[in-house]
Amino acid sequence: MVSNLKGKHFLTCDDWTREELDKVFETAFDLKGKFVEETPTLYLPHKTLFMIFFEQSTRTRNSMEAGMTQLGGHAHDLTADKMQLSHGESAKDTAIILSRMGHGIASRNCFYGIGNKYLSEMAEYSTKPVMSLQDDVYHPFQGLADLMTIFEYFRKEIQNLKVTVSWAYADTHSKPLSVPQTQILLFPRYGIDVTVAHPKEFPLNKDIVEKARMNAKAGGGSVKFTNIMDEAFEDAQVVIPKNWGGFGNYRMKDYLENEEACNKEMKVNLEKYRDWICDERRIKLADDKVKLMHALPADRGHEVTDEILDNPEISIVFDEAENRLHTAKSIMALTM
Ligand code: CP
Repeated sequence: MVSNLKGKHFLTCDDWTREELDKVFETAFDLKGKFVEETPTLYLPHKTLFMIFFEQSTRTRNSMEAGMTQLGGHAHDLTADKMQLSHGESAKDTAIILSRMGHGIASRNCFYGIGNKYLSEMAEYSTKPVMSLQDDVYHPFQGLADLMTIFEYFRKEIQNLKVTVSWAYADTHSKPLSVPQTQILLFPRYGIDVTVAHPKEFPLNKDIVEKARMNAKAGGGSVKFTNIMDEAFEDAQVVIPKNWGGFGNYRMKDYLENEEACNKEMKVNLEKYRDWICDERRIKLADDKVKLMHALPADRGHEVTDEILDNPEISIVFDEAENRLHTAKSIMALTM
């Protein structure tokens, strides 16, 4: 595939211009059409992608690995325990070596205060494109799939589309801030009006919020915040209820120096907001054609009720998940 994006890292959509992202979506839609009609798309024959996962994954791992196979290449599914990383080999050395052996490196490292730095170090030293499979700050592949799904359902009518990104209760683990942060940075660049709802102890990172406001100004969308979930659901055309940890409540340095105490406090704060759920009552506050999106995995019965998640008139979460494949293939085909 001829592309002027060959070699470009993909750590955040913010490093990509609107024109470049438009090309990504155009390619993703083309790849989706060809996938449906089973037309081969061998754009990366015999090429190798090294994937290093520090955490679990279903959608990201399989969209990348299946994507590489469908593009004619191969993805190595690596975890830190299979590599000398577990004995302390640096991101720099790992990136230099893998980029000499293959054509791309992708990694998920969501450790707070560590993940994005780790990926940035890899990108600094790799001679091949480095892709973020999610870190503590960004989840760029998720952002692309989300926006592709919005394009599919709302076509060109997304100027001032009302999208609500709401914190929701979950009792699984402290999820990273990277999904909502990616959404508030990306959606307003396409003219979308984003409302973010979260309890006061679960804010997003201040620098990201500031950047999102600047993106909104440049892109014709907007970003506003509330601490009341019901308020954010009123007239929303898309709702995205999702849990995230209370990391943004602390200065990074304070969190890293007092991790155990901060995590303990986060758990106490979490229990105050069990009623932050996307249920039928809240859906009724939204637009009568409202769509539910969620990066998945969803914490059923906590973040969102089964009744809403399984309602085909409302829920578009499985289209969103499938679009992880087409957007992943697009980025790999254009950059590798
Ligand atoms: N949405 C998402 O990134 O899913 P996985 O954690 O399963 O990859």
